[in-house]
Amino acid sequence: MSVPALLAISALAKGASAAVASTFTAPAAAPTDTSPFYVGASNGTITNSPLVPGKVFDRFIQIWLENTNYASAASQPTFQQLSTQGITLTSYYGVTHTSEPNYLAAVGGDFWGLYDDDFVAIPSNMSTIVDLLDEKSISWSEYMENMPSDGYAGFNYTNPDSYTYYVRKHNPLIMYDSVAQNSTRTARIRNFNDFAVDVGNNSLSQWIFVTPNLRDDGHDTDVAYASDWLTYWLPSLLNDTNFNNDRTLILFTFDETEVYTINNQVYSILLGGVIPENLRNTTDNTFYTHYSTLSTVESNWDLGNLGRQDTNKTVANVFSFVADVTGYKNLDVTDIPLLNITETIPGPLNPQYYVPYLAPTNGTGGGSGPTYIAPGTNMTLNAANAPAPVNLTANANGSRAGIRSAEGARLWISAGSAIVVGIIVSTLV
Ligand SMILES: *[C@@H]1O[C@H](CO)[C@@H](O)[C@H](O)[C@H]1NC(C)=O
Ligand SMILES: *[C@@H]1O[C@H](CO)[C@@H](O)[C@H](O)[C@H]1NC(C)=O
Ligand SMILES: *[C@@H]1O[C@H](CO)[C@@H](O)[C@H](O)[C@H]1NC(C)=O
Ligand SMILES: *[C@@H]1O[C@H](CO)[C@@H](O)[C@H](O)[C@H]1NC(C)=O
Ligand SMILES: *[C@@H]1O[C@H](CO)[C@@H](O)[C@H](O)[C@H]1NC(C)=O
Ligand SMILES: *[C@@H]1O[C@H](CO)[C@@H](O)[C@H](O)[C@H]1NC(C)=O
Ligand SMILES: *[C@@H]1O[C@H](CO)[C@@H](O)[C@H](O)[C@H]1NC(C)=O
Ligand SMILES: *[C@@H]1O[C@H](CO)[C@@H](O)[C@H](O)[C@H]1NC(C)=O
Ligand SMILES: *[C@@H]1O[C@H](CO)[C@@H](O)[C@H](O)[C@H]1NC(C)=O
Ligand SMILES: *[C@@H]1O[C@H](CO)[C@@H](O)[C@H](O)[C@H]1NC(C)=O
Ligand SMILES: *[C@@H]1O[C@H](CO)[C@@H](O)[C@H](O)[C@H]1NC(C)=O
Ligand SMILES: *[C@@H]1O[C@H](CO)[C@@H](O)[C@H](O)[C@H]1NC(C)=O
Repeated sequence: MSVPALLAISALAKGASAAVASTFTAPAAAPTDTSPFYVGASNGTITNSPLVPGKVFDRFIQIWLENTNYASAASQPTFQQLSTQGITLTSYYGVTHTSEPNYLAAVGGDFWGLYDDDFVAIPSNMSTIVDLLDEKSISWSEYMENMPSDGYAGFNYTNPDSYTYYVRKHNPLIMYDSVAQNSTRTARIRNFNDFAVDVGNNSLSQWIFVTPNLRDDGHDTDVAYASDWLTYWLPSLLNDTNFNNDRTLILFTFDETEVYTINNQVYSILLGGVIPENLRNTTDNTFYTHYSTLSTVESNWDLGNLGRQDTNKTVANVFSFVADVTGYKNLDVTDIPLLNITETIPGPLNPQYYVPYLAPTNGTGGGSGPTYIAPGTNMTLNAANAPAPVNLTANANGSRAGIRSAEGARLWISAGSAIVVGIIVSTLV
């Protein structure tokens, strides 16, 4: 989407919310308190498997804000203040545009050619970081602000004040059917009232993804508003040992830049008690992307890998203070790839450059374990004999939305013209 179009939409969002305060208002006295604003009341604290020590950290917490160029974030006093407590990553990049594909990439190692924010459901034979964590009984959870109930799979949610604060497109794991269709797993996709209860009971998981609501993450507002939310939420938690202890690593980042015509560099800081004293208030100019969060976690717990971009050495450097301990060899990437490319990346969610979902490619990730093969994977359908991309919209009367869910893909393919089906089959065999 063009920048003017984005601005127009954000202006609309602001206009539509006249009843909602334009400056950040704290929903409770502290982030460790529950609030009616967070919607569904917590139904009790989460149960975790026993702690699995990592090589460097025992807990990894990512906090994602929205749509901000590196320079605008770097100019915010809140972030400058936080940077003195951690390692500022001066060459960390989102992987494409729009928002949603970045969230998909951060947990699944791929964004499947997606370039918009439509409803998608990734088939259950596509793996995520949760498969790797569950294999080693490493606990995980997501905390989604204003999500009405645990494991909620809806496209968005509108609060009683008529404002839509929660959106599925910023909830990475719910978009994967391997998580969404398993109730053991959906119970771990929790809201902020659960967060308050889980912190209070010292029962936070070992891998955590935090998504503030559309206003607090800067999406419908701006970076100053998002930094006000962060000022409310983070500093007191940094002092709370139920959240942050000397084995906790925290990544605070943005999904993508606001402007598409520059490369996708986003402001990111590593924080937490595990950051060595001598590395606080320093910068690290190693080239990282959202895929680095996967390879870093794989390296820390010596996990397997997803056989996706987490095994692509160019885009998956491990955070160097971790790599230094685990022995992972980072690549010195001097020619940073363009990660602002959108719409033309082939994949199963790109109808103009359609390639079916493929089996993972055996590779080496951040850890020494093997590539995870999800149940129901057709190993013959792999990158080595993948068909060339097909322009589905040119050949059939199917709608773009048709390929955006597993059920839709089946219906679409079976309802699609014989020409399309013929092309896909003939290039495969
Ligand atoms: C611990 O969890 C229980 C529910 O499981 C909740 O009632 C209680 O308030 C929590 N304790 C704290 C300190 O948050
Ligand atoms: C707690 O359970 C009630 C009743 O089943 C449900 O309405 C509510 O959404 C649940 N809360 C969460 C956060 O899932
Ligand atoms: C919420 O979902 C409805 C359709 O279910 C859609 O019309 C609306 O634009 C969505 N709002 C946001 C903010 O995503
Ligand atoms: C659901 O997830 C749990 C936890 O990973 C796993 O043990 C279980 O086998 C899964 N169930 C199904 C039906 O896949
Ligand atoms: C956190 O602890 C530090 C050092 O003890 C203190 O200076 C700071 O004010 C505390 N911050 C909050 C938000 O409690
Ligand atoms: C991507 O960013 C580069 C600058 O790094 C710019 O030259 C290019 O035009 C951008 N691409 C798009 C599609 O905007
Ligand atoms: C952080 O480092 C800068 C120099 O890079 C220095 O000017 C500043 O005083 C340091 N701040 C703290 C809190 O150590
Ligand atoms: C690895 O990443 C680079 C940069 O995005 C890309 O050009 C290359 O095609 C990727 N390799 C594979 C095998 O996906
Ligand atoms: C990847 O390795 C597994 C065994 O670890 C094997 O079954 C599979 O065929 C291999 N796939 C490819 C594409 O080489
Ligand atoms: C994934 O599962 C679907 C549904 O069973 C199947 O049609 C598809 O071929 C599978 N793809 C791969 C790559 O395993
Ligand atoms: C696996 O994919 C290949 C290539 O598309 C296909 O010929 C074969 O029928 C598929 N196998 C199953 C069990 O679906
Ligand atoms: C795909 O087909 C549509 C409809 O004919 C056309 O508008 C579009 O430009 C094509 N896309 C590509 C990448 O060729």
